[in-house]
Amino acid sequence: MTVLRLSNNDLFLHSPIKFHGTLANEMPRLGTVRHLVSPNQFHYAHIGEWAKAFPNAVSWASPHVRERARARHVDVEFTRDLEAGPPEEWRQEIDQTLFPGGYFKEFIFFHKASRTLILTDTIINIELDKISEPWRTATKLTGMYHPYGQIFFGMRLPLRLQRRKAKMAIEKIHSWQPRRILLSHGCCFDANADELIRRIFGGPPH
Ligand SMILES: [Fe+2]
Repeated sequence: MTVLRLSNNDLFLHSPIKFHGTLANEMPRLGTVRHLVSPNQFHYAHIGEWAKAFPNAVSWASPHVRERARARHVDVEFTRDLEAGPPEEWRQEIDQTLFPGGYFKEFIFFHKASRTLILTDTIINIELDKISEPWRTATKLTGMYHPYGQIFFGMRLPLRLQRRKAKMAIEKIHSWQPRRILLSHGCCFDANADELIRRIFGGPPH
């Protein structure tokens, strides 16, 4: 989970983790829990728990997440849908775009003040010494390990098939000029974001 604080003190919880009382009790010291964000249909499972504890929060749906939650009998009610552009609530401070990837498409976010790119599954950078076999070998084969990081393997074919959408999203990422990158899986990149983006997505278009 990544927590962003907006200038009005509202908190934006990206991909909320399993609800935890101690953690939840600390939130009011940071700000008002306002936005519970599912960036893709795979990261949503604990939003319902946070929404119960913070009934004034808005739960934001990613594409197909409602169907997925219903099929899995996960108790969560989404109030709003994420759209191609950022909503009024955070437009001044956070930008967003839908990164294509077929089934795995996800919303990616950019926090302007800290120039931080927030990804969920688009790039994975697992620390091999923190996992056991057979996952270690499997992760190694896909290239999705620290310190290199790589595009989630399930997205690679859809990205090639959706070249135009991919190009637009990658252009957007370059235009933001991120300084660091936060990930949901693996070690984050605190520096040299530009170099990493060029290596993984290619350079900016001319
Ligand atoms: Fe994930």
